[in-house]
Amino acid sequence: MTQITLPSLIDCHVHFREPGLTHKADMASESVAAVAGGVVTVCEMPNTIPPVVTVEALADKVRRADRIQTCDIRFFMGATEKKHLLALRDVWRGASPTLKDIKRRCCGLKVFFDHSTGNQGADFETIAEAFRMCGELGIPLVAHCEDAEMNANAQASVLRSGRSRSSATEDIALHSQMRPPESEVAAIKRAIGLAREYSTQFHVAHLSTAGGLQLVREAKKEGLSVTCEVAPHHLFLTVDDYQTLGALGKMNPPLRSKEDQAALWEGIADGTVDCIATDHAPHTLEEKQCEDPLRAPSGVPGVETMLPLLLTVAAGGWPNPRGEKVANCKLQIANIIRLCFENPNRIFGLGKQKDELQIQIDVDKEWTIEAENLHSKCKWTPYEGWRVRGSVVD
Ligand code: DOR
Ligand code: ZN
Repeated sequence: MTQITLPSLIDCHVHFREPGLTHKADMASESVAAVAGGVVTVCEMPNTIPPVVTVEALADKVRRADRIQTCDIRFFMGATEKKHLLALRDVWRGASPTLKDIKRRCCGLKVFFDHSTGNQGADFETIAEAFRMCGELGIPLVAHCEDAEMNANAQASVLRSGRSRSSATEDIALHSQMRPPESEVAAIKRAIGLAREYSTQFHVAHLSTAGGLQLVREAKKEGLSVTCEVAPHHLFLTVDDYQTLGALGKMNPPLRSKEDQAALWEGIADGTVDCIATDHAPHTLEEKQCEDPLRAPSGVPGVETMLPLLLTVAAGGWPNPRGEKVANCKLQIANIIRLCFENPNRIFGLGKQKDELQIQIDVDKEWTIEAENLHSKCKWTPYEGWRVRGSVVD
């Protein structure tokens, strides 16, 4: 057995669903899953119930997270209206010890250019004000970049043409056409424009397209403070996987083409991609297996499977038994440390030390991903049956 030591990882994009959606997941269950996957610090998203758009909602999450000893949970605030930005400002400028503690646990602002789970889509004026205020106060701003109008138009046109083919509206692969790549590219373009205008530290969440990646590459060359993350599901799955996965392969942004997938790996190789983050978004199997797959909630779990998938590539393998290995996919252990520890730590000012907490990895261990052995409350995985190489030693 070859054992190596890594800093315990940071996943800067998870949904732990507490409070309000704890039938899907909760902080305790998902922390166990994270730790089993070598992740001990996570940045959690504001689309819980109530949404984290007030100081009270953030304080409540911080109190809940205080009960979790094994995983350091940090939180993004959200904003769907301008007044929510004032709550963020209060947290950021807060002078009292309570507010200071809350601020320490707040990693920035998350905004949605279009609705996704939780309907936190905001209008452009609110988003522009968010970029302005975050630029002024030095707050990291993360955006879900999909253009709402382009998505709405694409959806309408898919549904129109679907009427002539009776089963078309139940075809899950249409999800990718209803949220087309151009919509992501357009939203990233607008967001980069705002980051330029207001000198905002801007991070693109779950970037999924070749075109979006190229915009980030150019923004970096220009010297803007723009970073991005990609999710394992966009690195390891494509639209071809809908056939096997059905609605278990439904997420936002959706699965993309092989060309987009190859571009993301290229972005990892040339350093344009800053982080790999899971967008761990558990829903129950029952919710996912609803009658019309296009109505199933979007999101897949991933926090426990990210590291083994990446280690498999680092060992020269490819874990998707259905998809061909992406020709240019390359990864070394040092890249995993950069993408899943150093960069998220720096971008979100998490203050972690590399040697503070470490994990042991058996890089030779081959095993099969099976949902029944995973720890997320949702008890399913889009990677069921995949052979991987590399495992966290308990
Ligand atoms: O697939 C997704 N699931 N995308 C999102 O933007 C939200 C997430 C969720 O919370 O389920
Ligand atoms: Zn998300």
